Amino acid sequence: MKEILEALEEKRADARLGGGKKRIEAQHKRGKLTARERIEVLLDPGSFEEFDMFVEHRCNDFGMAEKAIPGDGVVTGNGTINGRLVYVFSQDFTVFGGSLSETFAEKMCKIMDMAMKTGAPVIGLNDSGGARIQEGVASLAGYAEVFQRNIMASGVVPQISVIMGPCAGGAVYSPAMTDFIFMVKNTSYMFVTGPDVVKTVTNEQVTQEELGGAITHSTKSSVADKAFENDVEALTQTRRLFDFLPLSNREKPPVRPSFDEPDRVEMSLDTVVPSNPNKPYDMHEVIEKVVDEGDFFEIQPAHAGNIITGFARIDGAPVGIVANQPMVLAGCLDIDSAKKGARFVRFCDCFNIPIITFVDVPGFLPGTAQEYGGIIKHGAKLLFAYGEATVPKITVITRKAYGGAYDVMSSKHIRGDLNYAWPTAEIAVMGAKGAVEIIFRADMDDPDKIAERTKEYEDRFANPFVAASRGFIDDVIMPHSTRRRIARGLKVLANKQLENPWKKHDNIPL
Ligand code: HXC
Repeated sequence: MKEILEALEEKRADARLGGGKKRIEAQHKRGKLTARERIEVLLDPGSFEEFDMFVEHRCNDFGMAEKAIPGDGVVTGNGTINGRLVYVFSQDFTVFGGSLSETFAEKMCKIMDMAMKTGAPVIGLNDSGGARIQEGVASLAGYAEVFQRNIMASGVVPQISVIMGPCAGGAVYSPAMTDFIFMVKNTSYMFVTGPDVVKTVTNEQVTQEELGGAITHSTKSSVADKAFENDVEALTQTRRLFDFLPLSNREKPPVRPSFDEPDRVEMSLDTVVPSNPNKPYDMHEVIEKVVDEGDFFEIQPAHAGNIITGFARIDGAPVGIVANQPMVLAGCLDIDSAKKGARFVRFCDCFNIPIITFVDVPGFLPGTAQEYGGIIKHGAKLLFAYGEATVPKITVITRKAYGGAYDVMSSKHIRGDLNYAWPTAEIAVMGAKGAVEIIFRADMDDPDKIAERTKEYEDRFANPFVAASRGFIDDVIMPHSTRRRIARGLKVLANKQLENPWKKHDNIPL
């Protein structure tokens, strides 16, 4: 019996070595952790239970029969993050470059299926040379099996991808269909075709980093939600994100004890909004002063800065925050910000996370670039996302809420549950100057008359009371009591029930 047990331990030790010491050293030299080291950082100590450690590939071509490695390039299993169940796969670059074989895909599919059955998120640590070249179509089939599961899991269990090495070709489409993508600076890249193919086809000369590095994807393309300095930071921040999320769409997000009183008054909020309506202020300050312990986990901080999206807690319960940012493009909505906001709102709605919206929006960004780029369709995404969302929605208008953007930003008319305005709010079709130039065009040559008309328009609309008198705003609140009002509102809405009419699925303008 003892020998049998020892033999098992030996087999396990062998599997744990993956592609061998030399390749592990090479991985470390690049500043990367191995697949197993990453799992250790990601999960609670000792919580990982591995599956399929002894699975090997079935390929006999190109001398592969002699080259089987137990585990076959991906470490899979489950464990916990702060005590909550999660399924994980971690691709092992030391084994055939982390390339995906038929059995490798089967291992991934197995944990995805279990995650769906048991209702727990899937975190994928990606570090792979793509399809296992020796396996041909069997590998492509494996990818497609994974893709199908990504699609079925979408909106059922949260899926998070961390890109920690190469991720190229069709392989990018599995992370692309997950909820969040994090990347590691300088060691990870994602592209559909690499620099060599790009050079041949378009004659563009571009490095891997420029084409698909973490900075490119977290700023320009918005494929990635965040970029981190190294593996450890990416993994610890993934733990942080995980803590905001429910395990599945059948659950509410996890509440944890808060040491920040829900009725804390924040007097400094009374002076955040400058008296000059054209002067910007940082909406981050408002968010951080309202949420528990100033703790805000921003999503896509480096892309479309005119809208802020991210997770926080109020009285210990997770909320999604969406806010216009007057510091960037005066907080205008444009194509990028509408897409960013819409995706975030839809994620929150999938997973029962209430949405708090802070509004200071002068309208949609004008211009041919926006119109030719389809701002009509893309702006509609945000409108659609808010309008279909059934989670509790609380809106606070801090300053401008102009035109169509007023409607879009979680207004009462698209089922905002509680709509508050600060006394500094201006709710109107447009700013006073623009309005006067249109409706009093005949007076344009008379500056005194124009000044008088502008003042008249401002007095009438540059305040929250016209909207409040119609019930479009539930109350005009003191900025310093914003946290208290939101916390109370969330309690009131805790058992909100709202269902959309039955449909196969909607047809959001993609
Ligand atoms: C089999 C692979 C492999 C692959 C790498 N290896 N990629 N084995 N299939 N796709 C092996 C190498 O032979 C090598 O084995 C080890 O992994 C490490 O690779 P290196 O090239 O030495 O490492 P590095 O210099 O860091 O380069 C990494 C790399 C490069 C950029 C990923 O290996 C590469 O370009 N690989 C091919 C990528 C590719 O074309 N994949 C197919 C894409 S098409 P040894 O034994 O020497 O350690 C695709 C379609 C998916 O993925 C479709 C889904 C629908």
